[in-house]
Amino acid sequence: MMSMQSVNTIPFPDQNPGTSGLRKKTVVFQQSHYLENFVQSIFNVMNFSGKTMVLGGDGRFYNRQAIQIILRMAAANGLAKIIVGQDGLLSTPAVSHLIRKRGVAGGIILSASHNPGGSDGDFGVKFNLANGGPATTSYTDAVFEESGKIRQYSFFEAPDIKLDTQTTRQLGDMEIEVVDPVVEYADLMEQLFDFDSIRTLLTSDKFTMRFDAMHAVSGPYAREIFENRLGAAVGTVLNGVPREDFAGVHPDPNLVHATQLVEMMFNGSGANQVDFAAASDGDADRSMILGRHFFVSPSDSLAILTANAHLIPAYRSGLLGVARSMPTSTAVDRVAAALNLNCYETPTGWKHFGNLLDASKITLCGEESFGMGSDHIREKDGIWTVLFWLNLLAEKQQSVEQLVRDHWAEYGRNYYCRHDYEAIDVEQANRFIEALRASLDSLSGKSFAGYRVQSCDDFSYVDPVDGSISEHQGVRILFANDSRLVFRLSGTGTKGATVRIYMEKYEADQRKQGQGTRTALKELGVIAQQIGKISQYTGRRSPNVVT
Ligand code: G1P
Ligand code: ZN
Repeated sequence: MMSMQSVNTIPFPDQNPGTSGLRKKTVVFQQSHYLENFVQSIFNVMNFSGKTMVLGGDGRFYNRQAIQIILRMAAANGLAKIIVGQDGLLSTPAVSHLIRKRGVAGGIILSASHNPGGSDGDFGVKFNLANGGPATTSYTDAVFEESGKIRQYSFFEAPDIKLDTQTTRQLGDMEIEVVDPVVEYADLMEQLFDFDSIRTLLTSDKFTMRFDAMHAVSGPYAREIFENRLGAAVGTVLNGVPREDFAGVHPDPNLVHATQLVEMMFNGSGANQVDFAAASDGDADRSMILGRHFFVSPSDSLAILTANAHLIPAYRSGLLGVARSMPTSTAVDRVAAALNLNCYETPTGWKHFGNLLDASKITLCGEESFGMGSDHIREKDGIWTVLFWLNLLAEKQQSVEQLVRDHWAEYGRNYYCRHDYEAIDVEQANRFIEALRASLDSLSGKSFAGYRVQSCDDFSYVDPVDGSISEHQGVRILFANDSRLVFRLSGTGTKGATVRIYMEKYEADQRKQGQGTRTALKELGVIAQQIGKISQYTGRRSPNVVT
């Protein structure tokens, strides 16, 4: 029986411009009809009736309830079929792959990515298109608009649908296929990388690794791929069982939040240390790569993957081009220039890479925020990145540190750091960025402690495929010595505003590549204060997260 419930009050979800969905405090999503409002808007705009969609999430608190709501709304909205991960679990990369492999209309991912989970944490709903990638701005804008207009949603009254076994069920006229969340994704990885060569590395007594799933969704994927298929010792995967509250851990794989790994790799005794360690975020699309006492900056990682892609089976025949988000360091630009590849600079956020990938303009892309990926799917991919590194280490028979230092010796080193000022008053943050924009005209040609401003602008991007324009994507200041400063407001925070300041300094001289990042970027930090005056605008003396 179909029943249409009318809704009295419809909360108006205010869209985060940087995301392709909605990310909020979990309690906001738990408000009556809030999730329903957003999901109905997606169904109205996407025209999913009669079509098939993929559904799954990272297992955080409210995942189970939200899946049940969405399944019943889908049945009432005339969808033909939903492919859902067992127990409602699917990583973001796995959703992207399933959409593409099964050739379906799109998908919905329940996750707030690297944000903390739990009843006092964050929740999110994101929708992806038939190419497997996040919805583009025209769709998210349309959904946003629709969410403010609709006055009712459709809901199929039925008891909870069991998702604990891989089987096909029926909900009204709609079919529900409950799939193994891991196997098809793991098969794809096996096609891209040289599993034999990685297996030899992982089973040799000369190489040890750990993968920290941070109690989030990457655990089942990592255990199947690293331990079962590649023969790594049982126990290689740490915190591998997804928990609704991520065991209180903030599942953001960086030096600040992946404390267990960082402690092991930097402070642990020799016995605890391993040759290679990685961590992944809530929905498994990001990862951090560490060697013994050594951190690989994600921007360097993108450059290194690009430089060595020919060693990986999937990329042996060459790359079509590469792309990085604007704040990501220019290390990859140097590799692209040397390899004669086009290198695109896009606004922050994965959706901008999708068009370039679909149009076969690029093969690899990545961001400074620990996200890397390729044309194998249309999302960034944490486990793929780890496998790429393992495949390189197996081919090169080098340590992580040696591989990176050799890269710097050849291309120069881009010292890099990001400062985050979180939970700032929104008005203060807006005043800060407005003042910075207004000061750009007077900055050109000015010198700060020997750093001369060569050019500066408020980044805007014309999509080379569809011609769409994205403006106000962040202030970038390029100095004559190839150093850079970037200032922008985050689009993914759920509390107040977040100001991000990105610093980059280029050092071609190998003898000067051994400094610590903090020392190398000290002057730029002072210059960033002089130019941006963040303390003056926000009252904050220092950032609360440095990555
Ligand atoms: C952040 C990252 C960005 C990433 C996004 C989604 O966005 O900086 O690179 O694409 O999360 O994972 P921001 O909060 O900076 O807008
Ligand atoms: Zn994520």
